[in-house]
Amino acid sequence: MENIINNLKEALIGESIAKRKYELFAEQAVKENLLEIAHLFIATAFAESIHIKNHLKALSSIIESPINLNEIVKINEDEIYKQVKDTSSNLLNAIDGENYEFKIMYKNFEKSAKKNKENVAELSFKLAKMAEKIHSKLFTKFFKILTQKKLFKKYEIYVCKICGNIEIGKIPSKCPLCDHSSIFYEKIEMN
Ligand SMILES: [Fe+2]
Ligand SMILES: [Fe+2]
Repeated sequence: MENIINNLKEALIGESIAKRKYELFAEQAVKENLLEIAHLFIATAFAESIHIKNHLKALSSIIESPINLNEIVKINEDEIYKQVKDTSSNLLNAIDGENYEFKIMYKNFEKSAKKNKENVAELSFKLAKMAEKIHSKLFTKFFKILTQKKLFKKYEIYVCKICGNIEIGKIPSKCPLCDHSSIFYEKIEMN
């Protein structure tokens, strides 16, 4: 039990850092006039906030009391600022982060939650794991378009508010990751 709580806390910290990092990466992309990439970073930051919500729910169901995220996560803005480079490097940074999360962190956390029969945490880890894999794929796709100097198309981007999946172009009839209906997809606007 103790390790599931710690894993949820570690995931909450990781997601909060990733969310803030992507917001800053989006600002940097705007500075470079790479608006489609900024749009993807904004969508992914929103997707990470879905994971935060799910992990918080899982954590409060285990410790049976509401939780204040700020007590668990202390964000060091300066440390995150230090990671902001040019957009091409920022995409590589994002790909590395997502890969670590879905290949190692969430994979292990999900296993451990399953072993301990913590179903809510297991599902939260599983959904995040699957979504991070998609995030990694999309960042990789955009990185290739950028480095091959191909033109970006104007895309619409949608995020599933249940699992944090990201769809580009159009909404699927149901979410391929969490099976929920398309009504849970939110269109992400550039602000
Ligand atoms: Fe992600
Ligand atoms: Fe979903």
